[in-house]
Amino acid sequence: MSRVDHVFERTLRRTPLRHAALSIRGRTCHFGLKLEEHGTTGSVKARTAVALLRALHRERPLEPGTVVVESTSGNLALAMAHVLSAIGCHFLAVVDLKTPRATRRALRDQGARLVVVDEADGEGGYLLRRLDVVRRIRAEHPEYRWPNQYENPASPHVHQHSTGPEIAAQAGAALSAVYAPVSTGGTCAGIAAFVREHRPAVRCVAVDVTGSVALGGTAGRRLIPGIGASRRSAFLRGTEYDRAAHVDDVEAIALCRILRDDLGMMAGGSTGCVVRALLDDVTAGAAGTFPVCLAADGGAKYLDTIYSDGWLEEQGIDDALGRAIGRLRADGLAFAWRPP
Ligand SMILES: Cc1ncc(COP(=O)(O)O)c(C=O)c1O
Repeated sequence: MSRVDHVFERTLRRTPLRHAALSIRGRTCHFGLKLEEHGTTGSVKARTAVALLRALHRERPLEPGTVVVESTSGNLALAMAHVLSAIGCHFLAVVDLKTPRATRRALRDQGARLVVVDEADGEGGYLLRRLDVVRRIRAEHPEYRWPNQYENPASPHVHQHSTGPEIAAQAGAALSAVYAPVSTGGTCAGIAAFVREHRPAVRCVAVDVTGSVALGGTAGRRLIPGIGASRRSAFLRGTEYDRAAHVDDVEAIALCRILRDDLGMMAGGSTGCVVRALLDDVTAGAAGTFPVCLAADGGAKYLDTIYSDGWLEEQGIDDALGRAIGRLRADGLAFAWRPP
């Protein structure tokens, strides 16, 4: 195996599925959390990065010294920087003001170059301006390689052949539904494709945030990094999944806080979104025997945002968060870990 292939292989790592129970409004549901925080670079994007770089390498070898440029909200950048530095290549990350400070620091520590886009795109985020910057950089440096995570079929492909099968094998015959967060849509599309082919009775729920247009809808303010997008997903056109859920930022943060208090687990914001979407199905009796939520990353990099009371005040959502948590607790919401 070549050195480059060896780096790709060792970056792809199986992540644990932990079992938990939740109760709400007198109902109890056993469910799984697929903990992608335990992946090599702390998020599900380690898989995506390997797939994108492998595709680039097959097209034309990634010789040492090659510069790769990509637009990313942060997690893909961490994974790209990790792999590229291990194979002697350079990474130019086009990020934005919502990219967590801890992520930007870690990227610089790994030798990545950063362009931080500070111009909003008028669609509730920065993505469209980030892509403008990537195109400008590519026009100036045609030798730079661009994986294009928004349209590259290698992204859904890797989730169809790793994330999806892992979830199905770990959850076993009881698996009833998968809740996957959506940004480019690659992760969700790949898992959904696997599930449709191999476990057609399993429901696939695509989870987005309110204000994102990844699955259609109207653009608006979005606070949680990682999830959502300012453009339609090229991978999800509506027929691939069984239900689309749009979760409000404040509700998602409420779930992150409750998961921390009940499970001692620091989850990323998109995990708050998927678990919030699961709650609706549990109350409606639609979650089935054993639903699984994809926990795309952990919460450590969000300590100065969704876990910071000062940040909540700055955003003007501290009171709304208190009310959301109060409502959910009044509905009897509680979580506990349980053995498999
Ligand atoms: C932290 C995190 N990682 C990964 C993903 C999945 O991203 P994509 O849809 O681009 O595959 C999401 C989506 O919400 C996310 O929040």
